[in-house]
Amino acid sequence: MIGVLTLYESTIGKKVVMAVTGLILFGFVIIHMLGNLKVFAGRAYINAYGVFLREVGSPMFGHEQVLWLTRIVLLVSVGLHIWAAYQLTRLDLASRPVQYAMRKNQEYGYAARTLRWGGVIIALFIVYHLLHFTTGTVHPRFVEGDVYNNVVIGFQNPLVSIFYIVAQLALALHLYHGAWSMFQTLGLNNSNNKRIWRGLATVSSTMLALGNISIPLAVMLGLLR
Ligand code: HEM
Repeated sequence: MIGVLTLYESTIGKKVVMAVTGLILFGFVIIHMLGNLKVFAGRAYINAYGVFLREVGSPMFGHEQVLWLTRIVLLVSVGLHIWAAYQLTRLDLASRPVQYAMRKNQEYGYAARTLRWGGVIIALFIVYHLLHFTTGTVHPRFVEGDVYNNVVIGFQNPLVSIFYIVAQLALALHLYHGAWSMFQTLGLNNSNNKRIWRGLATVSSTMLALGNISIPLAVMLGLLR
C-alpha cells in the first residue's frame, strides 16, 4: 500500500494513473459509440438496447445493478483522471515560474495545453449530456425509456447538435494527444514504433468522432426522424 502511495506521489505515478483511467474511459467511449449507432437500426432496436443496459447480468444481477457498478467505475476513473491532471498541471507550473523564451519540446507543450483545455470542454459536455439524455432535465420532450425519441428530438435543435459536434471534435483531439502522452509515459514512443502508435491513435480517435458525429448530423439532415 505504502509502495502504491509513494508511486502516486511521483510525477510518473500520476501519469500512470492518467494512463490507466484514460484507457478505461477510452474503452467506455468506444463501446458507447457502437451502442449509439444502433439508432440507425430503428426505434425498436435502440430502445431494446436501452432496456438491455438496465437488465444486463440478469438473473445473476438485479435491475440496474451492473449499470450502477459500471457507473461507479466510470465515476471513480473520471475523478482520478481529473485529480491527477490537476496535480500534474500544478507541478508543471511550479517547476516553471518564468516562461521559457523558447520551449525545449514544442510538441509536448502543445499537446499538454490542448489536453487541459480539451479536458475542460469534455467535462462540461458530460454534465450537459447527462442532464440531456439520462435525466432529461434540459431536454424539451424527454420520454423515459424512449431513447430513439430522446436522441432524435434532442438533436432537432441545431445549437444542441453543433455543441455535440464541437465536443466530439474536442474529444477526438483529446484522445489523440492523450494516447500520444500515454505512449511517452509507458516508454512505447521510441522511433521504431512511433508511427504505428500514432497511426492507431489517429484511426481510433477519427472513427470515434465520425461515428458519434454521424448521429446529430443525420438528424439535422432529416435522415433520422
Ligand atoms: C453524439 C454522441 C452521443 C450520443 C448520441 C449519446 C447518446 C446517449 C444516450 C441516448 C444516453 C442515455 C442512454 C440510456 O439512458 O439508455 C447516453 C448516456 C451517457 N453517455 Fe452518451 N452519447 C454520445 C456521446 C457521449 C460521449 C462522447 C460521452 C463521454 C465522453 C458520453 C457519456 C455518456 C454517459 C456517461 C452516459 C450515462 C450512462 C448512464 O449512466 O446511464 N456520451 N448517451
